[in-house]
Parts: sequence; C-alpha cells; structure tokens
Amino acid sequence: MDLLSNKLIVNLVFGLFFTGVSCNSVENKIYVNLNYTISCVRLLNATHQIGCQSSLSGDVGVLHLLESEENLDWVLRTGHNPPYMVILESALFTRSIMMKLKSGSNRVSGVAVVAPSSNPPGDFSPHTTCPNENTGVYSESYDPALAHCNGTVWNPQGNGLSYEEFDFPIFSLKDDNDTQVIRQCFMDHNRPVNGSVPQYPLCAMQLYSHMSAVTDTATCMRRNDINFSLNPEMVCDPLGDYNVWASSKPLNNTAKGHKMNESVVIAAARLDSRSFFFDIAPGADSAASGLVTLLAAAHALRNVTAQLNRTIFYTFFQGETFDYIGSSRMVYDMENDQFAVDLNNIHSVLEIGQVGLHDSKLWLHSDPVSKRNSSVNEEVRKLMSNLQSAATGLNFSLEEPDVTQPLPPSSFQQFLRARPIPGVVIENHQSRFANRFYESMFDNAEYLNVSYPPNLTPEEKLEFVTDTAKALAEVATMVARALYAQAGGEETQLSSIQADPQLVNQMLYSFLVQSNNSWFQQLIPSDLKSHLTNKPTNFYIGVNQQTSEPTLLVEYLLANLTGSVINITKDNCQSNRENEDDKDSKHMYSYVWVQGAAPANSTEREGFCVRSTVRLSKALSPAFELREYTSKNYSTWTESRWKSITGRIFLVASHDLEMLTLGVGIGVLLTSFLLTYFISSKADILFSSSREPTSATY
Ligand SMILES: *[C@@H]1O[C@H](CO)[C@@H](O)[C@H](O)[C@H]1NC(C)=O
Ligand SMILES: *[C@@H]1O[C@H](CO)[C@@H](O)[C@H](O)[C@H]1NC(C)=O
Ligand SMILES: *[C@@H]1O[C@H](CO)[C@@H](O)[C@H](O)[C@H]1NC(C)=O
Ligand SMILES: *[C@@H]1O[C@H](CO)[C@@H](O)[C@H](O)[C@H]1NC(C)=O
Ligand SMILES: *[C@@H]1O[C@H](CO)[C@@H](O)[C@H](O)[C@H]1NC(C)=O
Ligand SMILES: *[C@@H]1O[C@H](CO)[C@@H](O)[C@H](O)[C@H]1NC(C)=O
Ligand SMILES: *[C@@H]1O[C@H](CO)[C@@H](O)[C@H](O)[C@H]1NC(C)=O
Ligand SMILES: *[C@@H]1O[C@H](CO)[C@@H](O)[C@H](O)[C@H]1NC(C)=O
Ligand SMILES: *[C@@H]1O[C@H](CO)[C@@H](O)[C@H](O)[C@H]1NC(C)=O
Ligand SMILES: *[C@@H]1O[C@H](CO)[C@@H](O)[C@H](O)[C@H]1NC(C)=O
Repeated sequence: MDLLSNKLIVNLVFGLFFTGVSCNSVENKIYVNLNYTISCVRLLNATHQIGCQSSLSGDVGVLHLLESEENLDWVLRTGHNPPYMVILESALFTRSIMMKLKSGSNRVSGVAVVAPSSNPPGDFSPHTTCPNENTGVYSESYDPALAHCNGTVWNPQGNGLSYEEFDFPIFSLKDDNDTQVIRQCFMDHNRPVNGSVPQYPLCAMQLYSHMSAVTDTATCMRRNDINFSLNPEMVCDPLGDYNVWASSKPLNNTAKGHKMNESVVIAAARLDSRSFFFDIAPGADSAASGLVTLLAAAHALRNVTAQLNRTIFYTFFQGETFDYIGSSRMVYDMENDQFAVDLNNIHSVLEIGQVGLHDSKLWLHSDPVSKRNSSVNEEVRKLMSNLQSAATGLNFSLEEPDVTQPLPPSSFQQFLRARPIPGVVIENHQSRFANRFYESMFDNAEYLNVSYPPNLTPEEKLEFVTDTAKALAEVATMVARALYAQAGGEETQLSSIQADPQLVNQMLYSFLVQSNNSWFQQLIPSDLKSHLTNKPTNFYIGVNQQTSEPTLLVEYLLANLTGSVINITKDNCQSNRENEDDKDSKHMYSYVWVQGAAPANSTEREGFCVRSTVRLSKALSPAFELREYTSKNYSTWTESRWKSITGRIFLVASHDLEMLTLGVGIGVLLTSFLLTYFISSKADILFSSSREPTSATY
C-alpha cells in the first residue's frame, strides 16, 4: 500500500468514525481534545496563497516528538508508520526544519509547535526581510537604487515562514497539561527504544483546520460571486477593518474633500501586527509602543491645541502589516474627495513607529527622494529641529541616519506615493530593526520589559508604573511638544507639555497584559464589554465584518483622552445630538455613552456622555473598492473562511484493526443505505399519511 492511500484510508476510517459513531461514549475515553488550538490559516494575495490547512476531514498522523534536526530522518525516511504528526519545541521551529518537512510532506501530516512560557534568547522573526516590499514608495520608478530594500535590509533576521505555503496543518500548543499529555503519549507508545520499531497501538494526533479558499484572491473572489448567487457561502474575505482618527479642532466630517484655510499636521501610528499563528499577535514593539506613545501625546495636548493655527490630526492605521491597507485607503479617499480633508490640506506628517527604547536613542527617518525638492527639504528640516528642541532635557537623544537612507516600512510612504509631503518617521533603530522578534509571538510584554513585581493584584498592576512606561512617557512628551510647535504653538509653552507615565502604564497594561480591567471597563459602552479580554490584545487585522479589538480599544481611549464629558441625556447622546433640536453637532463631533464607574456604595455603574472628534474610517484596500483583485499597487490580501479549528490525540490500533474498523464502518454505512432505501420505498406503507413520491427522498 503506498503512503498516500495509507493516509487516505486512515482519514477515511476516522471520517467514518466521526460521522458514523461520533456520539459513542467510547470516544470520550479514547480521544483527548486539545484545549488551546491556535492555528496558522490560509491567506491569499493577487498571486499566491500562504499559510496552512488540513484536508477536509482533518489530517491524522502518528505522533513524533522531534528532538533535534538530525532526528528528522526518522520522519522523512526511516520511520515505519508514516504519515507523522511532528511535535516541535519552539527552538526547532526554524526555516531549515520547516522547509524539509514541507518538501517531505507525503510523510508529514501536520506540525504542532510548543510555545515556550518565556521568550527565547536570540532572534526570531517569521516575517520577510523587506516588509511590504512591493507596495511602499520605493519602486523602480521612484528610485531604482532604493527599491526592494537595496542598501537597507530592515528585517535581516526575517526567515519568511509566515509567507510560505504549507499543505498540512500547523498548530501552536501552549506548554501546559495538553502538551504534557502529548509528550507522555509519545513516550509511552511511539518512542523507538534501542532502535526497535515501535509497536501498535500508537499514539496519533488529528488536526483539523480545513480552509475553503484556494489559489489566489482573484480566484476566491470570483468563487464568492458565483456562490453568492447560489447560496450565500463565501470562501474568503478581504482583510479589512477601520482606521481611527481624531482632530485637535472639530472638522466637519460630513463635508468631504478640500477644506479652505485648513492646514493639518498628521500624527500617525499603526494599529496592527501579525505572527505566524493568526490569533496571537501581541505586537508590543511593532504596534503598541507607537500607538500608546501617540495616545499619550494626544492626551498631553488636549487642553492646549484649540488656539493653534494648524490642526493636529491623530490617525491610527489598520492593516499596515498587509501592504498598508489602512493608509493606502485613507490616501485613496483623500484623492477622491471622500475624506474630511484632502492631500492639499496636509502640512506635514509625523509618524511614530517602533519606539520601545532599547538604548536611549531614537532615530528620525526621512525620505531622501522627496527632499531633493528644496521646499520639501526645508519643511523636513523645520520638523527635525522642532523634534530636537522638543527632546531637550529628556533622557534620550535624537539622531538622524545617513542622508541617503530610505524610509523604513511606514504608513507615511503611502502619502509620498501620492505626492512629496514633508514628514519624519521616529524609530528606535538606525537601519536594521532593533526589534529581535518582529511580527512574531515573542514581540510581547516580556520583550518590552512590561513586567510587575510578583504578587500584585490586577488592580495594583494597573497602577504600578514600570520603567518602560516612564520611558515611553518621555517619548510621548517629546512627540507632543514637537506636534505643538509644528502646529504653530509658542516655544515658551513647550516645557508645560508633559505626558503622564501613569496613563502610559495603564495603556501598556491594557494592551499587553489584559484589556478587561477596571479602568477600561469605564471607558466603553456597555454593549461592547464582551470585547474586553483577559489576555494580551491580538493585533491581527482580521476580516471586514467586524471591528477588531485593538480598533475598539483605541477608538474609546482616544475619545476619553481627547474628548470631554457633557451633561446630556443618554438618548440624545446615542442619537449624536446635544438636545432634541440639535441637527448640526453630529457633523463636527461624535458622541458615545460609556459605562463609567460605580459609585462607592453602589454596584450600578453611572454612565455618561463623551463628546469627541474621534471617527472611524474604512481600512479596506482600494483594490476591493475598484474590484482589481490582481492589483500591483494596492493590498490584495484575503483570508480564507474555515468551519472549525480543532485538534485531538488518541491511540491508533494496528493496521489490521484499522481495516476491521473500516469494514465495520462500511458495513454500518451500507446497512443504513439499505435501511433508508427500504424505509423510503415502503414509506407509503410505513407512514400512511406521506404522499410524497419515494424518489424525492434522495
Ligand atoms: C503575494 O505574496 C507572495 C508571498 O509573500 C509574494 O511573493 C508575492 O510577491 C505577492 N504578490 C503580490 C502581487 O504582491
Ligand atoms: C495540570 O495538571 C496538574 C497535575 O496533573 C494539575 O494539578 C493542574 O491543575 C493541571 N492544570 C490545568 C490547567 O489543568
Ligand atoms: C481540557 O479541558 C477540559 C475541560 O476544561 C478538561 O476536562 C481536560 O482535562 C482538558 N484537557 C487537557 C489535556 O488538559
Ligand atoms: C536498551 O539497551 C540497553 C543497553 O543495550 C539496555 O540496558 C536497556 O535495557 C535497553 N532498553 C530496553 C527498553 O530494552
Ligand atoms: C529590557 O531590559 C533589558 C535588561 O535590563 C534590556 O537589555 C533591554 O534593552 C530592555 N528592553 C526594553 C525594550 O526596554
Ligand atoms: C517642490 O514641491 C512643491 C509642492 O510639494 C511644488 O509646488 C514645487 O514646484 C516643487 N519644487 C520643485 C523645484 O520641484
Ligand atoms: C472581565 O472581568 C470581569 C470581572 O472583573 C468578569 O466578570 C468578566 O466576565 C470578564 N469579561 C470577559 C470578557 O472575560
Ligand atoms: C475618562 O475616563 C475617566 C475614568 O478613568 C473619567 O474619570 C473621565 O471623566 C473620562 N473623561 C472623558 C472625557 O471621557
Ligand atoms: C446635568 O443636567 C441636569 C439637567 O439639565 C442638571 O439637573 C444637573 O445638575 C446637571 N449635572 C451636572 C453635573 O452638571
Ligand atoms: C450612598 O448613596 C446615596 C444615594 O443612593 C447617597 O446619597 C450617599 O451620599 C452615598 N454615600 C456614599 C458614602 O457615597
């Protein structure tokens, strides 16, 4: 029997098992369901599919705990019971091993990676070395010398695993009792001892993560359209969500397009991240450090920006990891008069990138190409000098990289693709990323040193100001002062602008440890409280249907930090008006009724209305707006649909027993066919009221 049919039969046996006799109580004794099933899923772009999936009925294999790379030989050549389900300790989750498993995939039915309970030493980034290589500003036509990371490779440690395609399922397991059960099962049954062949029964694992979409985005969008007319079952969805923005002065958001006499300074950060596994993307340095800094800066400026000449425009872009979904859409909307301001309104851009302080230095990046225009160059110099004066007296220094170095991957590049706009991107690295764990599951609270003394309660952690919070508060102070000067504020006022370390700490705790805390519960409307979680925020963008957790958190935080409490009724607040006759305020402001806190002697929360300029704007790639699914300019990423993601381990008996089970299964199947046939053909006798022709049963 060849391997493939072997695998097929195993699948068939269990397929029958599940469909036929799955409610059998014996199952509970044999199977151990895995409790944490974190999986890698299928994503598609204009030309490729990436990620992983199982076959329709799930993939089954004999467990093999890989002990070293040499041990792979057992899996790929010498082992007697393929296909294997390979268990990897995370140190072995390397490109070299994964590519060998990929090429031997007829003997590999899946991989489970055991996530360690603390971060590994050294580097690990499953991302590419040149993130968003094809959709930034540095194309061949912009400057051939800078295209494709020629010169500056931003993420040299990137092994690209997140962008490979695997035709077997890959799961992540927490290092807990589940994993212990698996290890034990392997030790007891499957481990070759003294070179002998392990005997049946063997311990096996089944992983189920079947994905509906195949090939590429154009193919799956076409299938969506076809399916839609037959039955509304979609196979894939565009990655998409919402950008969050707010302005330091109210802007009419109903009147789109150019605003006369309006000059805005854009202050931007990104709102997303990813890792190899779709539901774990802690993005501590890559997303949270920048957005927390910008939020703290917005708070520091809340009372001082009303009189300034220019408007500060805080924006948080979603989906930047996947070819700049959010920023490309905002620029597209600005170009098409679909946004509150247009590109002519933009004075300059200040973007906060990865700013977790690894040493006490930050780097001010700018674009060498647009600076060849002397007026752009002059504005960039002014912004740089505003930043430098904003940093005086703070505990870190600002430096500039080499004048010929291009911008790192950043949302600002999307603005530059439209036209030369002066701007600076602040980062914690000179050239290659300082982040050792870029777009991986290890870019987490531990990596940013957000840690607390042992034995603190959640409440105490919320109040405990870590060194990281102090450092980021300084960065936020510098950003706030620079924005203030950039918007035309007086230099003498600068020293009074100060970001709050306590607030930075609360935000870091909420994003990196848990958003379900007493502080955040006050800031959100009661119908959203189920979105708060007791784990770190997952910064993966997700698909278009619902706003993701980070978007909601930032939306309500920004409203609290920049808005004001107004004394109006809940009804008016939820209808976006200040009194029954008010029809105009909704153009300038948005209103939310938040839960608030419970007073000391009550358990009932006292809600209130927050008025702010916070808005959401679509972060869906223009490629989907234009229905250009093979676009080279815009992000075309879609995510496949799936039915369920589960895993379990069990003992497989010998082949003989499998064949017997198969026989019994087929027997049961045939019997039930015969029975159905008999019943339906005699239906008019058995069920005398039935008047349907017997053939309709099929
Ligand atoms: C799609 O993704 C693959 C894998 O990362 C990449 O090689 C390819 O260039 C992408 N296609 C486009 C059009 O960006
Ligand atoms: C793990 O197993 C140990 C002992 O077998 C038990 O005490 C502990 O409660 C288990 N933990 C979980 C999370 O099930
Ligand atoms: C999974 O969770 C269930 C219910 O919480 C528990 O009974 C079972 O022991 C857990 N499985 C393992 C392997 O820990
Ligand atoms: C494996 O071999 C060693 C030495 O050859 C022997 O001492 C040991 O008992 C053997 N183990 C088993 C389980 O047969
Ligand atoms: C975290 O702490 C370690 C040791 O103190 C230090 O080397 C590292 O740079 C710190 N990282 C950050 C992001 O602060
Ligand atoms: C520089 O850019 C500005 C607008 O960004 C444009 O009006 C001006 O003509 C450009 N100057 C040169 C020398 O290209
Ligand atoms: C959040 O925490 C509260 C207790 O403070 C708990 O009752 C609630 O179930 C938690 N919500 C979620 C979504 O876990
Ligand atoms: C912000 O939230 C705090 C509670 O932490 C509350 O006291 C304050 O009034 C809120 N401010 C606004 C403008 O919503
Ligand atoms: C809010 O408005 C109501 C009615 O207009 C008034 O009675 C109440 O005192 C106000 N509350 C505050 C805190 O101003
Ligand atoms: C307890 O609540 C009542 C009204 O329900 C209020 O009058 C009183 O001041 C509250 N006491 C304290 C200590 O907050």
